[in-house]
Amino acid sequence: MTSVLVIGGGPGGYVAAIRAAQLGGEVTLVEKENLGGTCLNVGCIPTKALLHAAELVEEAKHGADYGVSLEAKIDFGKIQTKKAAVVKQLVQGVTGLLAANKVTVLKGRACFTGPGKVVVEKNNGNEVSLKPDRIIIAAGSVPATPPIPGVEVKQCIDSTGALNLDTVPASMVVIGGGVIGVEMATAYAALRCRVTVVEMLDEILPLMDRELTKIVRAKMVKRGVQVFTSAKEMSVEDKGREAEVAIVEAGAEKRFQAEKVLIAVGRRSNTKGLGLDKAGIKSHRARIVVNAHQETSVPGVYAIGDCTGGCMLAHVASAQGEIAAENAMGHRAEYDGKTNPSCVYTNPEFSGVGMTEEQVKASGQEYIVGRFPLAANGRTLIMGGDGMVKIIAGKKYGDILGLHIVGPRATDLIAEGALAIGLEATLDEFIATIHAHPTIAEAIREAALAAEHRAIHIPQK
Ligand code: NAI
Repeated sequence: MTSVLVIGGGPGGYVAAIRAAQLGGEVTLVEKENLGGTCLNVGCIPTKALLHAAELVEEAKHGADYGVSLEAKIDFGKIQTKKAAVVKQLVQGVTGLLAANKVTVLKGRACFTGPGKVVVEKNNGNEVSLKPDRIIIAAGSVPATPPIPGVEVKQCIDSTGALNLDTVPASMVVIGGGVIGVEMATAYAALRCRVTVVEMLDEILPLMDRELTKIVRAKMVKRGVQVFTSAKEMSVEDKGREAEVAIVEAGAEKRFQAEKVLIAVGRRSNTKGLGLDKAGIKSHRARIVVNAHQETSVPGVYAIGDCTGGCMLAHVASAQGEIAAENAMGHRAEYDGKTNPSCVYTNPEFSGVGMTEEQVKASGQEYIVGRFPLAANGRTLIMGGDGMVKIIAGKKYGDILGLHIVGPRATDLIAEGALAIGLEATLDEFIATIHAHPTIAEAIREAALAAEHRAIHIPQK
């Protein structure tokens, strides 16, 4: 029986462990904190729980338009209790799944002591030495600290801190307009905190399609979030109860006081203390170097997810976990990120898969674009939303290059685009597929029609 050691129990590690067990491996998983990792405990899941509460507050504002008057009274303690309950249930679910797959879970810290050799310092003080046939490293990431003067003052928090506040602060400055920054800004602004986002690049969410990012930014501003981009020379100073954040924007200095300053400038690979050098595993800037099989420079040792750098997303880690497990168990699988969707849980939601228009332009290929405004979609109107579906296709064959959506349920709808890209579908296949009415998904087909200047529900030039 092949013995497989998985280091880390996040969405990369626990999925890898289950897949290796399914394939007949004798699997041990080591986790120093909680099963489920960052995603379940201090990332995706608790953030979405907070955002759901925020969405209820927003919905209540518009209840009267539908003849249902609602008053949103915010009990932040209860929001936190509900969030904790969801997290607990999911962690228990992972625990149960690992047990059902006969995976041995060791609670402790794993460290390489030599090639193929690992010692686990268990949380109960005992030590276990292991020499498994295969190793999968899924050590995740930790928040990065930017070189900003004053970033260590007491008002500064990271995403974990932002998820665990006791009360909603009156004001918050968010440094970094990436995914964490805009999601936290969305949640806290709805919970009646005065939020300011400062981003050093010339647009927030710099990796998303620009045209649609502008819509998301405008919505955030409409909901009361101040957004400053191209912010330079940032500094933070402790002013007692509040901190003062100074930036230079368009040559002018601006200062903001806030009770909390959220630092959300990215995450770094969590490989410190793993002893990679002792095992001869190559890394670059702390990120473990892997090939398409997720194998490291040492045969039989694999690495997946955030600790390899690249796209730090839970679903990427899980996909890579399955690939690594299959390779560890003697199969031959390769990771291909082309169907990997990006989802941002703003209000409205924002998602994309494939290439952005900027990337298509840079690639030099000829392309066409179809757009469908969600203001012309019945279901969206009923929900009181708006937004846009944008589809990008090759000019010659209509092959789908990218799908981008801003609107209600955009993060669920993007799966259709991911499947289309995976199947190398064309506009014709979207068009030939009957989409249910009334749904928001109809707008995806309409965007495909619009790319061929034949949308039904918007006038065509
Ligand atoms: P990020 O890489 O998405 O964004 C960081 C932002 O901070 C960038 O826009 C960057 O230009 C900016 N920045 C960097 N240094 C700065 C500075 N000194 N001052 C001002 N701005 C600065 O990283 P983020 O938001 O911290 O998220 C970490 C990871 O977690 C990402 O890989 C993200 O994709 C992932 N994540 C994914 C979520 C999702 O899929 N919905 C939700 C939350 C996080």
